[in-house]
Amino acid sequence: MLIGWRHFVGLAIAGVAAAFLIAWSGIFGIGASSGHWKATDWFLHWAMRASVRTAALGTEVPAFSEGMLPMAAGHFERGCAICHGSPAMARPHSVRHMLPAPPDLKGLIPTWSDAELFQIVQHGVRFTGMPAWPVAGREDEAWAMVAFLRRYPALDAEGYRALAGFSGNQSQAMDRIVGTCNGCHAAERLGPDSLTPRLAWQSETYLADALAAYDKGTRPSGIMAVAIQGLNEADRQALARHFAGETRGNVSPDEDEQIIERGKMLAMQGDPARRIPACLSCHDKTDGNPAYPRLSGQPGGYIANQLRLFVAGNRGGGPFQALMARASENLEEDDIVALASYFAARPSK
Ligand code: HEC
Ligand code: HEC
Ligand code: HEC
Repeated sequence: MLIGWRHFVGLAIAGVAAAFLIAWSGIFGIGASSGHWKATDWFLHWAMRASVRTAALGTEVPAFSEGMLPMAAGHFERGCAICHGSPAMARPHSVRHMLPAPPDLKGLIPTWSDAELFQIVQHGVRFTGMPAWPVAGREDEAWAMVAFLRRYPALDAEGYRALAGFSGNQSQAMDRIVGTCNGCHAAERLGPDSLTPRLAWQSETYLADALAAYDKGTRPSGIMAVAIQGLNEADRQALARHFAGETRGNVSPDEDEQIIERGKMLAMQGDPARRIPACLSCHDKTDGNPAYPRLSGQPGGYIANQLRLFVAGNRGGGPFQALMARASENLEEDDIVALASYFAARPSK
């Protein structure tokens, strides 16, 4: 007798029924304490590597810059070290009994490509506790983390602390909180290609609006969402007041006069033919609306990144974000570079 398709269907149905029967019987433990069988362990990890490899196919890897590292390192300290440990801290005992236990990353990073690390950081790993990036739509933040992970295996405790702006974790005492903010935002930690903004000289109104926007999620940033978690509205207002009162540090100069000049023209006059408004009609006016941020003296890397986010429709923001979304919709990449160079070099007073 030939084995017909009916036999296969019959077998498949019997298989599914048996699987349900075994699951229903409850003999599979779901407790994490007993661990997986060696074979299950091997299989799950193999399946995870295969799935990451496939998902990473065709991913375009952007250029990495030094400016990506400090904010990613600071976020690693707050959002990742609690599970993976860090060069400055062994893995906490509480997580060593997770199943699977979060591994020490030092030896593992070199086994992944940039595109694969991006998949892991952006999407997390299902069934393991490895979380996805805290917000959607911020691939640029996940890429900054990948740039940092590449550097990670070579970091000792001291190098890691220096990069992460180490000041321990948040506590409710205001000066301790300000210390954690300055771990990323202090003017002396920022360079021309930083993706982290300066806060000083911004109005209290704008800073408070921005913090509220991160809290509500109308301005998505995984890094800032984690940095302010646990703070209430009064804390945010106090922080906005604190940073608005500070004087602004030095401006990061840009070399290329021609590019700066092009940025200046756009900022002052806009380009009516391409429906780009004059930026200075809203920004950096002495009698301007305090809800509009100041741009002069901000790192060029930050300005350019925010403009790209606006153009891509991912920036979000506070109550007036729609104005800026409209103002930026026709900007091209060269405009963005020129405008960022101009505002970074423009004296902040
Ligand atoms: C709640 C705990 C937890 C947190 C927080 C966490 N991870 Fe993980 N991570 C895990 C676990 C568990 C795995 C193991 C997954 C596996 O082996 O299938 C993992 C795996 C990884 C891997 C792959 C390592 C390998 O080769 O198996 C990388 C890279 C990684 N995490 C990076 C990060 C980064 C970066 C952050 C912070 C943005 C982070 N993780 C936050 C639990 C965590
Ligand atoms: C781990 C690094 C890190 C820490 C810690 C951190 N920030 Fe930030 N902050 C950033 C980055 C990166 C951005 C830009 C995020 C984006 O793309 O929207 C940012 C943006 C901001 C903005 C928006 C400014 C603007 O010009 O729009 C404010 C306000 C702010 N942070 C305040 C704070 C305060 C207050 C604290 C302390 C409670 C803090 N940050 C802690 C990295 C950090
Ligand atoms: C109609 C008024 C208006 C015009 C014109 C305008 N902007 Fe804005 N811009 C805003 C507002 C309002 C925000 C704050 C959005 C938010 O976060 O809620 C903003 C935010 C920004 C930010 C983010 C700053 C930060 O600290 O995160 C940048 C960068 C920026 N604008 C650049 C420009 C440039 C460059 C131009 C000219 C092409 C321009 N803007 C034209 C109103 C305007």
